[in-house]
Amino acid sequence: MNLLILETTCDETAAAVVNDRLEVLGSAVASQDALHERFRGVVPEIASRAHVERIVPIVDSALRQARLTLADLDAVAVANTPGLAGSLLVGLTAAKSLAVALDLPLLAVNHVHAHLYACRIAFGETVFPSVGLVVSGGHTSLFRCEGPLDFQWLGGTIDDAAGEAFDKVAGLLGLGYPGGPAIERAAERGDARAFRFPRSFVNDSTRLDFSFSGLKTAVRYQIAGPSTAGVMARPLAENEIADLAASFQEAVVDVLVAKALHALTRTGLQTLLVGGGVAANARLRKRLDELTGSEGVRTFIAPRELCTDNAVMGAIAVERLKAGLVESLDLDIKPGLVRGNPNVGQVSK
Ligand code: KG4
Ligand code: ZN
Repeated sequence: MNLLILETTCDETAAAVVNDRLEVLGSAVASQDALHERFRGVVPEIASRAHVERIVPIVDSALRQARLTLADLDAVAVANTPGLAGSLLVGLTAAKSLAVALDLPLLAVNHVHAHLYACRIAFGETVFPSVGLVVSGGHTSLFRCEGPLDFQWLGGTIDDAAGEAFDKVAGLLGLGYPGGPAIERAAERGDARAFRFPRSFVNDSTRLDFSFSGLKTAVRYQIAGPSTAGVMARPLAENEIADLAASFQEAVVDVLVAKALHALTRTGLQTLLVGGGVAANARLRKRLDELTGSEGVRTFIAPRELCTDNAVMGAIAVERLKAGLVESLDLDIKPGLVRGNPNVGQVSK
């Protein structure tokens, strides 16, 4: 069985062809970074319009890589939650159109769950049961993952997501967009102990929530005091930027690692899955890798190319197809942007 998977939840337009043995036959991603760069963040209306222009060529590209045509497809899957409303609508409308025109079953993908399923694609069934940590531009959440169709929300950010904090702090430091890779590069030359930034809730094992907005403000105050109007009130020396980037990155990584450990202790599980754009970060990957072996913990981090948004991870739809969880054509989007809502991103069935 060949599945066509569409992904348009935020600012990447992506399509993949994956078979029911989870073999990737084709995968194409069109990044919109260049369109959003000057705003230092994703502008929803620009994103949705760009998806409209790109979705058909991207589907075409994935099919050509797979050396297949539309006639070879057995199902169409689409990420319908969570994400930006306009962006989600483009993917959903394209998927429904294909499902009707080709008379194929329509499958729904939860984008956040898919970020964790990237670990299943890369490492096999051994990844369950586990604790799942999703760290992306829009989400920072912990799940108890009993199996590929059973993700129970344990906690999440109450304000900014980890990737959002990387993007905003990169803006404060005058670094490029997206901020994560830019901060990672700057941090290589910096001293992570130069500034002691806050690590919210890090010692509180009773709550599996995150908060990154205070950290972001602390970086801002380090650059220009609370009463200073302009953030760029003074030019920053290159070594200062490097030290600020390294100290900020270390604070985020400390919190993510500590909370993942709290979640493992709370659930009694010993396997940790990590996915999402921030999981591409080398420092985070190193610190998570160090957990493996200690107290019997096994850590599976999604391969870098499956961390940032892509359609391959939407192969979680294979599980839904096998379980008979096919959607009707009234499937709708669920933007699900309410922070901390345990039901965020639950698909209809
Ligand atoms: O998963 P993703 O592509 O999109 C969402 O679902 O949100 O994540 C994008 C986020 C951005 O905030 C970006 O700055 C961050 O992932 N990111 C990184 C790195 N690469 C991407 N953060 C830290 N280090 C990186 N190397
Ligand atoms: Zn994502």
